[in-house]
Amino acid sequence: MNISNRFNLGPFMTFEHSKTRPIYDWFWYKEGYASELVDFALDNEKLSPNPIVLDPFCGVGTTLLRAKERGIFSLGVDASSLATFVSKTKTSDYSESDLNEALEFLSRPLDEGRTSEWEFELFPARAAFPKRNYSEILSLRSAIDLVENDSVSNLLLLALISILPQASIILKDGGVLKIDKKKRALPAKEIFRRRVKKFVNDLKTAKTGFCPQVLLGDARNLDIESNSIDLVVTSPPYLNNIDYSKIYGLELSLLEMSKAAAAQMRMRALRSYIGKNMDVQDMPPEVGEIGARIPIIGTYFRDMDLVISQMFRVLKDDGVAHVNVSNSVIHETHVLVDEVFAEMAERIGFSQVEIVVGAERIADVRPAKVKTRESIVIMRK
Ligand SMILES: C[S@@+](CC[C@H](N)C(=O)[O-])C[C@H]1O[C@@H](n2cnc3c(N)ncnc32)[C@H](O)[C@@H]1O
Repeated sequence: MNISNRFNLGPFMTFEHSKTRPIYDWFWYKEGYASELVDFALDNEKLSPNPIVLDPFCGVGTTLLRAKERGIFSLGVDASSLATFVSKTKTSDYSESDLNEALEFLSRPLDEGRTSEWEFELFPARAAFPKRNYSEILSLRSAIDLVENDSVSNLLLLALISILPQASIILKDGGVLKIDKKKRALPAKEIFRRRVKKFVNDLKTAKTGFCPQVLLGDARNLDIESNSIDLVVTSPPYLNNIDYSKIYGLELSLLEMSKAAAAQMRMRALRSYIGKNMDVQDMPPEVGEIGARIPIIGTYFRDMDLVISQMFRVLKDDGVAHVNVSNSVIHETHVLVDEVFAEMAERIGFSQVEIVVGAERIADVRPAKVKTRESIVIMRK
């Protein structure tokens, strides 16, 4: 297996660059990447004239948006209805009258008397906001419900959901949400207005056409025809114990107005964090003894074995997958995730597999320190 370095790609393996780019920055997703990784795949692979791109862990739609900007049709799948909602809203086309209607919404009076509850599974949602922000957010939520034009209501709802981190006193600290009474929350209605204006402004110069198809689903069992995809560009959840249904739970519950949404998402989610079913069965042979000793490692690779098999099935005969991944330190054990993925891909049938390392980091694996890395595992069918 060939391993090479392309450290110029490292900065694009995080969401940092996406935070300041029109449309990419509509929803901050710490676990996302930047569009340059999509360009790297599109520019370095020989693709047929009208390729179809798939991202089976599409998150907030970086792959899909970049494909759209480049006039390429794409498909996205994610286990989270929040992620599919954000992806769809960022990659839809909007008419001029949609944009005017979104701006007109800002001058409508709000029904501040709204009393309905916002159901959140971890703690009462009202504890996450100053009183006034909580009531403004709920009033805006119910006013958006009354907007009949779906494109406009999605745009407004995404603007509202995207302000929650700034309008709340919540800190996202590693894999958990914490209430920080010292945090200064910004005024909800005001930042919502600014968001809507920004969204409309970003859309004035956005490319139209080639809207992707976005599906709520499970990458371990894709509802996609075999031999239909030219290129997969993706990044699965890392083996890092992040439960997306919790860390983005507040946003998800405001979208769905139901606390059951998080549990439903967990049913579809990959076993990349402790707490899911840790029953290690059918562990891939490449994992070795650590898979049995640390169950989360065994279950993670078991799930990724299913995902890589699905990618193999849906790719055309000359198709290729670019899988962005980070090696992990878990329970003080250094796990070479990229090498295990590469070995699994070879067993599954990919004819040529290589690892391109984009970044190296030092991880504290007491008592030692180890050099760990983020890479792209390229799998050619
Ligand atoms: C690392 S993020 C992808 C971020 C994406 N590259 C971006 O730029 O937004 C991984 C995504 O996988 C999703 N996910 C977890 N388990 C899944 C599953 N079994 N099937 C599909 N998506 C899943 C999570 O909801 C999360 O959005």
